[in-house]
Amino acid sequence: MKKLIIANWKMQLTYPASLDLTKKLVKKIKGDKNTVVVCPDYLSLPAVAPLLKSSRLQLGAQDSAAAAYGAFTGEVSPANLKALSVKYVIIGHSERRERLHEEAGLINAKIKTALANKLIPVLCIGEKLIEKEKGNAKKILSQELRQALNGVKIKSAADLVIAYEPLWAIGTGHAIIPLEADIINAFIRTQAAKILNKSVRVLYGGSVAAENSAEFLRQKNVDGLLIGGASLKAEEFSSICLQ
Ligand code: PGA
Repeated sequence: MKKLIIANWKMQLTYPASLDLTKKLVKKIKGDKNTVVVCPDYLSLPAVAPLLKSSRLQLGAQDSAAAAYGAFTGEVSPANLKALSVKYVIIGHSERRERLHEEAGLINAKIKTALANKLIPVLCIGEKLIEKEKGNAKKILSQELRQALNGVKIKSAADLVIAYEPLWAIGTGHAIIPLEADIINAFIRTQAAKILNKSVRVLYGGSVAAENSAEFLRQKNVDGLLIGGASLKAEEFSSICLQ
């Protein structure tokens, strides 16, 4: 089965740099071995979209609002993202949960609204280091799943993606051991299936780089990768996508 590889550019690039990186990736990533998605910042999205038109790359966004339209100053509508040919949307990234205090109820509402607007939510879940050290990782992951997916209905397994991103691994250079990601991803898939009645894709994210990506992609329960830092380098990211 094809793996799903998602680039999360966060707020790391200027507008011209986003266009430049997009053009480089379009040139380098040919063939259809894996499904590749790039998630630029909102301001770059409308200019990145046409560059992807006859390419293999698909478009994602880094977040979307819990409502399609209305009086929500500063928010971005999933309906408008859909109109710009966005296909995937990251929801509940730990940076938003931690730094912007996004809580479980809001994440749940964002997932429902994204689905209602025919976007594929990429729900991020993950434990903190202290929770892992106390042996509570599975408890936290189950709780985050239950809260985020409460009342969520999907028609097909392809309609929603989960990304397991342990917080201690994001941007630290310390990825989880691939075999451990395989075990946890299998656990997440089973827990999610109890809620959704579907076996959805489960990605791994957190300090994935060219050196460790092949080992992650070899794991049976790692259906793909969510990549931050290494997705900003055209050479490195394309080598990960093409293996
Ligand atoms: P990283 O980020 O690859 O830089 O660790 C991953 C993420 O935040 O999605």
